[in-house]
Amino acid sequence: MEIKDKRIVLTGAAGGMGSILAEELVKLGANLAMVDANADVLTSVANNLPGTHAIAGDLSSAAGCSSVADQCLEKLGGVDLLINLAGINSFAAFEDESPEKMEAMLHVNLLAPMWLSRAFLPVMQENNAGRIVNVGSIFGSIGFAYFSIYSASKFGLRGFSEALRREVADTNIKVTYIAPRAVKTPMNSDALMRMGEATKMNMDAPEDVVKKIISAINNDRKDIYFGFPESFFVRINVLFPRLVDKALAAQNRIARAFAKGEK
Ligand SMILES: NC(=O)c1ccc[n+]([C@@H]2O[C@H](COP(=O)([O-])OP(=O)(O)OC[C@H]3O[C@@H](n4cnc5c(N)ncnc54)[C@H](OP(=O)(O)O)[C@@H]3O)[C@@H](O)[C@H]2O)c1
Repeated sequence: MEIKDKRIVLTGAAGGMGSILAEELVKLGANLAMVDANADVLTSVANNLPGTHAIAGDLSSAAGCSSVADQCLEKLGGVDLLINLAGINSFAAFEDESPEKMEAMLHVNLLAPMWLSRAFLPVMQENNAGRIVNVGSIFGSIGFAYFSIYSASKFGLRGFSEALRREVADTNIKVTYIAPRAVKTPMNSDALMRMGEATKMNMDAPEDVVKKIISAINNDRKDIYFGFPESFFVRINVLFPRLVDKALAAQNRIARAFAKGEK
């Protein structure tokens, strides 16, 4: 899909990747509506990108998503591309996760992309054109210790993307699932960054990931998994999950101390 003149809704536009992606989409000629809960940062991103629409809103409820979708449709006069990028994570031992945090993560990472897709799909169906891009994670294919809720939310998002893609296969509406490995953004806590260093976790620059997201859209990719060996491990985890259990065991023991706040 070419970006030029497309009406694009981007969630998480005030975030580490979102603010860079917003800038690139505008450079490529998009008509952009940017959504984020962080109203202050969103306003400053929008101030640097004249002609864009900033829509501050909380995507953690169906009502919030519905209100955001209505505002986007009003500002853009329709929608060609929805990019579900907003997300939250948690690096913690499962026994330390609160029910509220679990609910928030599933709402923002999994239900919000569904609620927004549900709001925009009929508009795309009317035009028989459009694309939904869901940004997941390598953790959506490999369940990672101390990211249990986050992994579950991204596994769900991958499953939703695959099912919806198959459901609209006979139309001109496309669904893309994108799975970055770790990226250097404010999403990752200090403890996570220190754990990443201790375990030699590969971390990409957000600018590089944004380039790949745009390339995936331009090239009509169905799904894409970033980085080696992570993308290879995704395949191995399907065929030989016990091998991946073994490969990750030592790393998980190191990660525990960071997740428990002991390091
Ligand atoms: N960073 C990584 O290592 C990594 C790796 C793989 C995949 N990803 C995925 O990539 C996407 C973007 O991540 P990022 O690294 O750019 O994260 P980020 O810098 O934390 O940006 C995420 C943005 O989403 C917003 N957001 C959170 N909850 C929201 C809500 N309820 N309603 C509306 N907006 C909300 C955040 O606002 P607040 O600041 O107010 O919370 C933030 O501006 C996420 O889906 C993430 O899971 C990230």
